Amino acid sequence: MTDHPTLDRSPFLQGPYAPVTEEITAFDLPVTGTLPAELDGRYLRNGPNPLGLDDPGSHWFLGAGMVHGVRLRNGRAEWYRNRWVRSRHVAEALGEKWPGGPVHAGMDFAANTHVIAHGGRTLATVEAGALPYELTEELDTVGPCDFDGTLPGGYAAHTKLDRRTRELHAVAYFWAWDHVQHVVVGPDVQVSGTADVPVADGPMMHDFALTERYVVLLDLPVTFSMAAAAAGAQLPYTWNPSHQPRIGLLPRNGTTRVVRWFEVDPCWVFHTLNAYDDGDRVVVDVCRYEGSYDLSALIGKGPLTLDRWTVDPTTGTVNQQRLDDRPQEFPRVDERVLSRPHRYGYSAVTGEVSHATVQMDGTFQDAAFADALLKHDLATGTVETHRFPGDAAVGEAVFAPSASDGAEDDGYVMAFVHDPERGAADLVILSAQDFTSAPVARVHLPKRVPLGFHGSWIADQ
Ligand SMILES: [Fe+2]
Repeated sequence: MTDHPTLDRSPFLQGPYAPVTEEITAFDLPVTGTLPAELDGRYLRNGPNPLGLDDPGSHWFLGAGMVHGVRLRNGRAEWYRNRWVRSRHVAEALGEKWPGGPVHAGMDFAANTHVIAHGGRTLATVEAGALPYELTEELDTVGPCDFDGTLPGGYAAHTKLDRRTRELHAVAYFWAWDHVQHVVVGPDVQVSGTADVPVADGPMMHDFALTERYVVLLDLPVTFSMAAAAAGAQLPYTWNPSHQPRIGLLPRNGTTRVVRWFEVDPCWVFHTLNAYDDGDRVVVDVCRYEGSYDLSALIGKGPLTLDRWTVDPTTGTVNQQRLDDRPQEFPRVDERVLSRPHRYGYSAVTGEVSHATVQMDGTFQDAAFADALLKHDLATGTVETHRFPGDAAVGEAVFAPSASDGAEDDGYVMAFVHDPERGAADLVILSAQDFTSAPVARVHLPKRVPLGFHGSWIADQ
């Protein structure tokens, strides 16, 4: 019998994680403050929302995806909607007919991790072998998406859009593959190219980074474990001390797309903030869990910090610099600078998530368990903190520009934040350049939004 740690699941079905039980459509939402008239579009966010509480064995990451969205137009909050993603299982559980469509390797899943738009399509995304699901503008499920048959395998939760080429990059992994797959989807929403990169042990690659020259791969020692799977782990990716942690630079272009690998110290990274080329070197900013991480049980000792890796191909080394020692996650940039040098970054300190995913050995300060959004100025090394009251359960913040051709950081930072007094969520909109002041607007939603994962501001074209 494998001595495998079990996940204490109860936190992920309670409190700020507790799933909601209804799909709601609400119009003309009340707003405190003034909604910026230039915010014309949809803020969408995905996250797990189990259909019921009768499956206490569920890992946080395995609940059926539910997308929450708010439509802003002309200074008004036109609507709020929340919709489950209709996989076959979800559709049948809701007494509906599954719309049908392609399935990779038998892994139909209600994509629960991210929601993006590309080429006019809205996609809920997930990783580890399953396909995205396409949604309508109003979050109804169209069906699974394999980019009109052009995607050879599964897809990925995290994607990076190069705004100049309009190419959407992703790195797909699947436990049964002996490689990971870089996938480029063109502006026509068809796969325009793939590159298979051999890897050992079936590593989880939740996120990656993009520069103008490279796809930056994170081959870290959280790998598929048959033993954990046999022991009943629902998400059997565990710490594998024999797997050398390394960063890979895969050239984006050229006929021989050979990865060059660079060793790093043992760590785990869910998310990158951004990356860019700096002369011959490559700068990669990440939220990094030091030491080992067992993803099947969400156990790591940390510390969890914002770090900068500078990869130097000339010397073959990686320099590591600590940017901020507060435990933070969900790092995001102004996506107009993605793959190019960024000055600013936004991230979230969510006490409940820090508690649940990092078991620090007494070095966590109380402030770490607060709820706050952080704005990093990486040119000056300063951080601004927008604090929320206890129990606010602030989630990932997304940047929305004031104008498409404006400067980096000229815009707004928005996130779902729980309002304990109302027992419901607000869409909180901060001015990025007046970050610590009161929000410019709070859109009051009719219900809670459980703590979830990632989202996008999708401006109208
Ligand atoms: Fe993620």
